Amino acid sequence: MPDNNGSIYIGLMSGTSMDGIDAAAMRFPDNSCNLITTHQHPYPGGLRTALAAASRKPHACTLDLLGELDQRVGECFRDAVAKLLRKAKIDPADVAAIGSHGQTLRHRPDAENPFTLQIGDPNVIAAGTGITTVADFRRRDVAEGGQGAPLTPAFHHWLFSDSNDARVLVNIGGIANVTCLPILGPVTGFDCGPGNTLLDAWNLKHRGTQFDRDGKWSVEGSVDEALLGDLLADPYFALKPPKSTGFEYFNLSWLDNVLAEHASTPPANVQSTLCELTACAIANAIRNHFGAAKEVIVCGGGVHNRDLMSRLGNRAFPAVLHTTAVYGLDPDWVEAAAFGWLAMRTLRGQPGNIASVTGAARPAVLGGVYSA
Ligand SMILES: Nc1ncnc2c1ncn2[C@@H]1O[C@H](COP(=O)(O)OP(=O)(O)O)[C@@H](O)[C@H]1O
Ligand SMILES: [Mg+2]
Repeated sequence: MPDNNGSIYIGLMSGTSMDGIDAAAMRFPDNSCNLITTHQHPYPGGLRTALAAASRKPHACTLDLLGELDQRVGECFRDAVAKLLRKAKIDPADVAAIGSHGQTLRHRPDAENPFTLQIGDPNVIAAGTGITTVADFRRRDVAEGGQGAPLTPAFHHWLFSDSNDARVLVNIGGIANVTCLPILGPVTGFDCGPGNTLLDAWNLKHRGTQFDRDGKWSVEGSVDEALLGDLLADPYFALKPPKSTGFEYFNLSWLDNVLAEHASTPPANVQSTLCELTACAIANAIRNHFGAAKEVIVCGGGVHNRDLMSRLGNRAFPAVLHTTAVYGLDPDWVEAAAFGWLAMRTLRGQPGNIASVTGAARPAVLGGVYSA
């Protein structure tokens, strides 16, 4: 399918939460994003467990396992596209390209030999769908000296910036990232710290479920201010951007280190404090780097955590808080849409990164193209 103003693109995203593959089909007519269909494709239980183990316990991941997971994740991404196409009755021949983020297993942009690793073999996706697939977006930015993340700010800027109002986009996935969209001047953006990842991990440990639905558990507890202060004392929060992070850093062991001094804090209070930590990290990032924002626009799974949204609303005041739904894009699908859009940029030979965000030496055309 030749690329034109009415072309269909598919975006595939699975974030650090590993809660499944977000697949979205869309068009980008006249500087807008029209979702056609979406599909959330769960990883089979065994695969999710294997991915979590491989990423959380690096020494347990052999080369054989890595190769096998790369292929199995590719198959899942391929199957997600097949379901999406069936659901929307879209002919693969009508799709210009798939943009596949893949599944991050490791992100070490600040290591002596910086690298970032997303798996989900794009060859499997292109071969199985018959659709040109663009993938491996982050490594080009790292090769240009950047963090390789966040990459969605270019899409946020394209879709949500406004010539009259300074806005901030916040994506609350496993990790939370902010994009500052000034009226004038360069776009900035960075990972500000944990989004849902610690909330999910603590909830799983104490309640055995994947996440604290609607924030019902955290709202039962109360914030332990001393604990919150110690959590916020972590140097990552004060680090100057460009910066990015992941579950390699913000995980249960990170939390346990701080909790050692707060052993008597009841679990529900820890959950409340973690919720406040996410809200604080986001609000502080906005205040310290972009005080002028009048509007804070949120997307990502965190929008469903009512306790978190209420805390963020309080912390971000007087800025107005709402979700991307106000601007016509369902907050659950912004990240997937961004990777469909990034695929379009790549096919058109246009850069997908913003150097002022990632710290790359220059804007670059991102990703590899795997032809249909
Ligand atoms: N109803 C809900 N209540 C509370 N949290 C939710 C709810 N729905 C989703 N979430 C949170 O959103 C996370 C998934 O968000 P997502 O944006 O997909 O993150 P990622 O990009 O890391 O995959 C879940 O792990 C969970 O923490
Ligand atoms: Mg997700």
